[in-house]
Amino acid sequence: MALGGTGGLRGGVAIGELAVVAHRADDSLRRTDGSRLRAPTAGCRLLATRSRQYCLAVDRFVLHPSGPLHGTVCVNGAKNSVLKLMAACLLAPGVHRLDNVPVISDVAIMSDVLRAMGAKVVQEGRGAQGHLQITIPQDVTPIAPYELVEKMRASIVVLGPLLARYGTARVSMPGGDDFGYRPIDFHLSAFEDLGATFVAEHGYVDGHCDHLVGARIVLQFPSHTATDNILMAAVLAKGTTVIENAAREPEIADLASMLTEMGARIHGAGTSRIEVEGVDELRPADHRAIPDRVEAATFVAAVGLAGGEVLVKGARHEHMDMLLEKLRQMGMECTPTDEGLLASAEGHRHSVDVATLPYPGVATDYKPLLVTLLSVADGVAIVSENLFAGRFRYIDELRRMGAKIKTEGHHAIVRGVPRLSGARVRASDIRAGAALVLAGLVADGVTDVSGAEHIDRGYESLDQRLSALGANIERVSSP
Ligand code: EPU
Repeated sequence: MALGGTGGLRGGVAIGELAVVAHRADDSLRRTDGSRLRAPTAGCRLLATRSRQYCLAVDRFVLHPSGPLHGTVCVNGAKNSVLKLMAACLLAPGVHRLDNVPVISDVAIMSDVLRAMGAKVVQEGRGAQGHLQITIPQDVTPIAPYELVEKMRASIVVLGPLLARYGTARVSMPGGDDFGYRPIDFHLSAFEDLGATFVAEHGYVDGHCDHLVGARIVLQFPSHTATDNILMAAVLAKGTTVIENAAREPEIADLASMLTEMGARIHGAGTSRIEVEGVDELRPADHRAIPDRVEAATFVAAVGLAGGEVLVKGARHEHMDMLLEKLRQMGMECTPTDEGLLASAEGHRHSVDVATLPYPGVATDYKPLLVTLLSVADGVAIVSENLFAGRFRYIDELRRMGAKIKTEGHHAIVRGVPRLSGARVRASDIRAGAALVLAGLVADGVTDVSGAEHIDRGYESLDQRLSALGANIERVSSP
């Protein structure tokens, strides 16, 4: 069990009744008898109760070779901000509003996590008009059940707000996933530093405290979600909390900005030292999420592969500095404009070496996109993964499309080929799935990417938005 630094753990907790999750069906879902469920909004609506299993339509993206891309695409709100902003609502009873919320299945899962606790969550609109109204009651059921956490490990970010506001939380421990083993020890030991104690048994972690008390927390590694979680706990702790070696992602600064709107006192979010002065209570917020830098990068990478010129509207170039530098070294033009980022490319890219690092380094989430670009670039590149050991799995699929890639530990050696060759491939996670879709833009013949549900976790209507730029892509439901 990955509970380093949790010396206070003891056994003996029985799993209580799991909350039944309110749900509403969506047209991307199928019943177990194969018939379709109808719903007013597109996107992947997921169901989880004790009696019903999640049941997803088995959709694929089918691509034919595409010419250069042209036009404008708008970037949606950042998934990795929105999920934490949703959890932050637990810190104050009342009605919160979040704007710029994409219709993606991870948002649907987090909505169900909050509903399972007694919150009312209503999502309306799409793209830049997408928003959530979240009503948090005075008292919630502080449980994040296995059925939901298993679907989305980011659900762990409810732990901090629940401990801070209710002094108790029962959260299913996330297991391994497509990136390999992903522990939560930094989260738990930080909460222990703030005065919480934990019991772990039957796959759940049960946290308790009379009241969290501010402390100095030094993270071994600048973990993004651990920083979010600690920040959300510290805002209601007694006294001052300092997070050293904090993650610096723009989504953390976005979370801090919403918490500040709620009445929190935070200094240094977005730097590696965050100081939080605890307050007694917070009020509901009305907050607009920042644009998704990984989604923006996906459209820029699409231009790098297919060529053309696309305005990625809303993209914040200052959130993507290192990536844009790499893309320029590869021969792309990426020009910040008043509206976003103008990406253009012609001819072949040149190979460059890439190493993933915590922000502001090249994000691990960009890596599948970069490896796909390098697969058809002139020359040889070494790509090193420094965050997630298992994040090379999609490379087998790229090899099936003719890419010349060797992996050795956490390094990949990518030897560019002139074109890829269309094949049936499978998405194993959100970013790997997006990268395989992009590979289809420069593959001869037909590329058939199954596992669309992984892509739906993080991208709203990826096929339609690429198609509007001229990509030859359609979404197909398997019989
Ligand atoms: N780590 C630990 N113990 C912990 C927490 C993290 O050892 O308690 C390790 C991890 O195993 C990993 C490293 O620290 O080796 C960094 O992980 P981090 O905690 O920063 O990742 P995360 O917060 O779980 C977020 C994003 C990921 C993104 C990473 C890195 C969310 C919901 N997820 O994950 O996004 O890849 O940061 O930037 O914010 C995605 O959007 O598809 C995605 C996977």
